[in-house]
Amino acid sequence: MTTTTDNPSHIIDQGLFRGTVGRYASGITIITGHDDQGPIGFTCQSFYSVSVDPPVVSFSVMKTSTTYPRIRDAGTFTVNILSRDQEAVSNQFARRGTDKWADIRWSPTTRGNPVLVESLAWLDCTIWAEHDAGDHLIVLGRVIELGTSPEEHPDPLVYFQGQYRALHELDPA
Ligand SMILES: Cc1cc2nc3c(=O)[nH]c(=O)nc-3n(C[C@H](O)[C@H](O)[C@H](O)COP(=O)(O)O)c2cc1C
Repeated sequence: MTTTTDNPSHIIDQGLFRGTVGRYASGITIITGHDDQGPIGFTCQSFYSVSVDPPVVSFSVMKTSTTYPRIRDAGTFTVNILSRDQEAVSNQFARRGTDKWADIRWSPTTRGNPVLVESLAWLDCTIWAEHDAGDHLIVLGRVIELGTSPEEHPDPLVYFQGQYRALHELDPA
């Protein structure tokens, strides 16, 4: 289906926009950090790798996030790339105003940022740049340390059309 708009101000229906970009399958991450009040974090789909030399990654965060200003003040964050076993953890870190850290097992990076148990991989970053982008901010992080899970959690958590998926669900075979 093709939908065009001849509205001169190029207003795109928000539901149509969400439905269209929702056809881009991605993994899911939890961006973590810490400050003097303890560990902080939020669920984030918009992670991607930007540059190899220097190693830089990026994510977008809503301007209404209560977590991100604390991460910005701390100056560092860790990207936790989630495994298929972490669907409940993803939902837990998407709920503002709750105890996101209840029953969560984690260990600190050298800089003290939480690496969640069962994550597939993690990247510890310093904030490199931040750009205004509509209702979001684009954050660029310079990678300073990274690691992969020592345990067996080989399958990623996949998000597609507003739902969590397993890789085999996307396999046409
Ligand atoms: C699957 C999924 C993906 C999400 N991706 C993003 C994202 O890329 N950026 C973002 O700002 N919020 C994202 N969210 C929403 C935040 O996790 C949620 O609003 C969170 O509570 C942030 O608000 P807080 O920092 O005030 O707690 C996502 C939520 C879910 C369930």
